[in-house]
Amino acid sequence: MTTIESPTIAAHPLDMLTAEEVTRAVEVLRASGRVPEDARYIHIVLHEPSKETIAAHRPGNVVDREIELQLVTGPTLEVTEAVVSITAGEVRSVDVIEGVHPTLLFGESGDAIFKVKNHPEWQAAMNRRGITDFDLVQVDPWPAGTFGSPHEEGRRISRCISFLRESKTDNGYARPIEGVIAYFDQGGGEVLEIVDLGVVPLPPNRGSYLPEDVGPMRTDLKSLEITQPDGPSFSVEGNLVRWQKWSFRVAFDPYEGLVLHTIAYDDQGRIRPVMHRASISEMVVPYGDPGPMHGWKNAFDVGEWGLGRMANSLTLGCDCLGAIHYFDGVLTTEAGDPYFVENAICMHEEDYGILWKHTDMHGGTSEVRRSRRLVVSSIATVGNYEYGFYWHLYLDGNVQLEVKLTGIISSMAVAPGDVPEFANMVAPGLAGPNHQHMFCARLDLDVDGTENSVYEVEAERVPPGPDNEWANAFKMRATRLDTELAAQRETNPADSRTWKVVNPSSKNGLDQAVGYKLVPTMSTPTLLAHPESSVGRRAAFATHNLWVTQYARDERRAAGNYPNQSSGGDGLPAWTAADRAITDTDVVLWYSFGVTHFVRPEDWPVMPVEYTGFLLQPVGFFDRNPALDVPPSTASGSCHA
Ligand code: CO
Repeated sequence: MTTIESPTIAAHPLDMLTAEEVTRAVEVLRASGRVPEDARYIHIVLHEPSKETIAAHRPGNVVDREIELQLVTGPTLEVTEAVVSITAGEVRSVDVIEGVHPTLLFGESGDAIFKVKNHPEWQAAMNRRGITDFDLVQVDPWPAGTFGSPHEEGRRISRCISFLRESKTDNGYARPIEGVIAYFDQGGGEVLEIVDLGVVPLPPNRGSYLPEDVGPMRTDLKSLEITQPDGPSFSVEGNLVRWQKWSFRVAFDPYEGLVLHTIAYDDQGRIRPVMHRASISEMVVPYGDPGPMHGWKNAFDVGEWGLGRMANSLTLGCDCLGAIHYFDGVLTTEAGDPYFVENAICMHEEDYGILWKHTDMHGGTSEVRRSRRLVVSSIATVGNYEYGFYWHLYLDGNVQLEVKLTGIISSMAVAPGDVPEFANMVAPGLAGPNHQHMFCARLDLDVDGTENSVYEVEAERVPPGPDNEWANAFKMRATRLDTELAAQRETNPADSRTWKVVNPSSKNGLDQAVGYKLVPTMSTPTLLAHPESSVGRRAAFATHNLWVTQYARDERRAAGNYPNQSSGGDGLPAWTAADRAITDTDVVLWYSFGVTHFVRPEDWPVMPVEYTGFLLQPVGFFDRNPALDVPPSTASGSCHA
């Protein structure tokens, strides 16, 4: 055992990871001699403490900071997972996992771009298309998927596709170089094969969205300023946020990106837990064109790239308006050195229209209250697409996740006169293949404590009869979901289906079990690919909208920890095969939601934001409208009489 003086000054077990902690964790692990010096670091994150440890923590207690490190130690399918305590200066575990493919490494992906562009067969394929200046070609390495290609055997590979730019800042996606795919051995550092499926003419037009290229800008937009002369209504202490009656902790994960911990509501002095942890555990973008150029595309942007690794630094006045608090994210280079993503997380308040209102026509009173929400957000750029994740907390106890999709579509070139069957034209000679964006939120609800049960709640139509003479009757039906397999469910907007998490031992003033319900606020699909297809097996989480599992500390990512080139079945299908009981116990909801994207001309050359998400709403958690005490927003008679 190596003892190194602890750098930790963590005051709380869930404090965000610091750069010093990353450095010390690497020192402790290297000093142990249990990993090669030249190992590359995939991620270094806080090994999140158990719920018991978090609950037992009192201010001033020593925090044992355990750090999780994931390393690649060679060219093949071997990943090392280690846990070190930087408080104790000791290595707690080192496990070598065989046969898995970690996320794509940045260094290897840069190598792929360089070596593909220097490969004579790729250059010959470019020449066949009249392309001779390779500096203007953009090469995008993609996760290769799992399709039984001999290149996949024993290797970590990517498939690289190419785009032609007119200049360095041009939009390459306007001119996809159709038909050319390079297989690259990421671990071995060599081009395996150049496939040329045949020449399709480059689309004729540029697709620039830069101001200098789009013509005159409108001149009639007057300035719109958000001012908060008294400052924002939130307070921040480390990563602990307090806003109105809410409190929670913010964290940043290389894969999940923005994570919220220990969301609780101060109900007249009683701190009531609502959700222990909330994050996007995985996502997948499966394409629906069956051809050899696009049919293999199904990016798992959490597990194959990482929403945190791809997070933007956000800018005041552009990404966020108003009185902003930023949190930096700490990530690690593949050499094991910490670096900051400055302003990775943005937090601010927004006016959100009216909260409640009534004009009493008899009594002559009129009361209106303004709604306000706290917004905690982060944006990831994964290749061509941008994903913004916006957690909203409201004054009435609602919690919402809104996902904003923007950026540039994945494009395909279409020969003049051809009409694509599985894609829509967006510009002359240019189409966007049909695809989906499916997200899986992991929602560890702890409603007034960990012992919870889950009900499916929906409308039940009552048949006409003597008890329903006018055939108008409908009931609310609540069905308890008792086991994990019974809790694999789909949305049903026609019957207003929601899912309610209750605490049977915590009752409200009406003697009802307190609860929170998951409301699918926007229409959402499930996975359209066949469940037995390659992507269907790997992204099984998207074959149902709802999954419920019995809480297990290490069950975190819906498609497993290593979805890259996986054969499928990991994550939710594996965990729920045990069909564990989910009544009166600690439950985790997994909500798979998203959009099916039939691309429009309006999505080109850059896509206006498309929205998806869900709402968590108190249901009997409070005895009445919890926002009665929100004061009128002006002292004058205008908001109340
Ligand atoms: Co899309």
